[in-house]
Amino acid sequence: MNIKKICCIGAGYVGGPTMTVIAQKCPHIEVTVVDLNAERILAWNDENVENIPIYEPGLSSIVAEARGRNLFFSTDVEKAIDEADIIFISVNTPTKTYGKGKNMAADLKYIELCARQIAKVAKSDKIVVEKSTLPVRTAEAIKSILDHTGNGVQFQILSNPEFLAEGTAVEDLLHPDRILIGGDRTPEGQEAIAALVAVYANWVDRDKILTTNVWSSELSKLTANAFLAQRISSINAMSELCEKTGADVNEVARAIGMDSRIGNKFLKASVGFGGSCFQKDILNLVYIAKSYGLHEVADYWEQVIIMNDHQKRRFSNKIVQTLYNTVADKKIAFLGWAFKKDTNDTRESAAIYVADALINEQAKIAVFDPKVSESKVLSDLNYLQSRSSDENKDAISSLDSAYSACKNAHAVAVLTEWDEFKEYDWTKIYESMQKPAFIFDGRNILDKQILEKIGFVYCGIGVL
Ligand code: UDX
Ligand code: ADP
Repeated sequence: MNIKKICCIGAGYVGGPTMTVIAQKCPHIEVTVVDLNAERILAWNDENVENIPIYEPGLSSIVAEARGRNLFFSTDVEKAIDEADIIFISVNTPTKTYGKGKNMAADLKYIELCARQIAKVAKSDKIVVEKSTLPVRTAEAIKSILDHTGNGVQFQILSNPEFLAEGTAVEDLLHPDRILIGGDRTPEGQEAIAALVAVYANWVDRDKILTTNVWSSELSKLTANAFLAQRISSINAMSELCEKTGADVNEVARAIGMDSRIGNKFLKASVGFGGSCFQKDILNLVYIAKSYGLHEVADYWEQVIIMNDHQKRRFSNKIVQTLYNTVADKKIAFLGWAFKKDTNDTRESAAIYVADALINEQAKIAVFDPKVSESKVLSDLNYLQSRSSDENKDAISSLDSAYSACKNAHAVAVLTEWDEFKEYDWTKIYESMQKPAFIFDGRNILDKQILEKIGFVYCGIGVL
């Protein structure tokens, strides 16, 4: 099968960048990205490419190159499904907030809606690709819906999980470590796999394209994220021990990272991991393990989340304790709100939880993040439902520069590792703050010695 038209349902952090790169690398394929959210599609089509809804380094220039040529953004979901040979499902799968599996299982209602829509519209055979991270055996549910509600059309379901990390999405898509494609062992399944392999082979070496059965592919995605998150929780667990013993977690990380069996990536101690994937995927893994009665397996992975929650709480407690056990009516500046640098995504960002804990202690928070708006900061806090939105509005504000956020503050907390924070005039910031001026470096990106020389009281993660 020769793919001429691709449709992607979901124009978010995964669907948007992935389809943009496919369109750039495959000018002979027409790629249409659809979304129910009309505002988001409008932004993707904004004449000024700097206004696209997702910030990723390098993304806007590729959109400028491909958009209107063979890359299209639209709200006409049915038309795009009807015309496509292959349909990527790239919709969100948040953790369930209700019913069975509440706070653990993935909510598949958006996926199911997509499957029903595809079944309703499709008049010719289609390949349906799961792009969103899904619990193992979701393909079975999708297949059942497609086969029982369709018009006798043949569907092949493939799993093709996305391994890109936000902030480096374009680079990760252009030079992936591997592409994973899972499909049925039947001749039809193998034919569908070959069709998708041919798309990626336009820019990825064949030996980096792995093919497996569907379940291995689905489970590999959850496993990769669980292993990565586990490394962060492991080093964060050591950070607490370092603070008690006088070891320096940065030195420990460097020392163990040089062991080639361990490797040096994902060993940065921090205020805790965030993002839309790690917590959700591990909770999912825990839920799946429990549902098979594998309680030790479930407890093992759950500990990664427990450690992460502990790390966030530990950071806010440290701020309160250091500021003489009270932050009531004290201004605390937050540098960064996004869950990591180079993205405007704030899902599960540690900053939200640290702010919430400090507001419970009646602190006033002034946020500066280079890519996050005040309305996003507020809606993130409101989502926790700890207090009314008016109370949140009173407790937190967002400013357009770090200097104004820090003015008259008792303490600065670094929540995101944005590069520009390292370039600031820290003497100027120090002079504008209340004394003693404290700095809580939740990402260990600033130079402790320089800051102490200026006069700051410096507290990093896992360093004395
Ligand atoms: C992750 C996976 O890396 C990616 O492969 C998957 O497809 C989606 O989930 P992402 O959530 O975009 O990607 O970001 P990632 O770079 O993995 O960072 C996740 C969180 O861990 C961030 O909050 C980051 O700041 C934190 N982190 C990362 C650390 O605290 N220490 C580290 O050493 C690395
Ligand atoms: P991710 O990080 O997984 O890409 P996002 O939330 O950024 O998650 O993007 C998912 C997108 O999918 C959202 O823009 C949402 O509006 C869209 N979406 C969800 N369900 C449907 C659907 N049935 N049809 C079209 N778009 C959908």
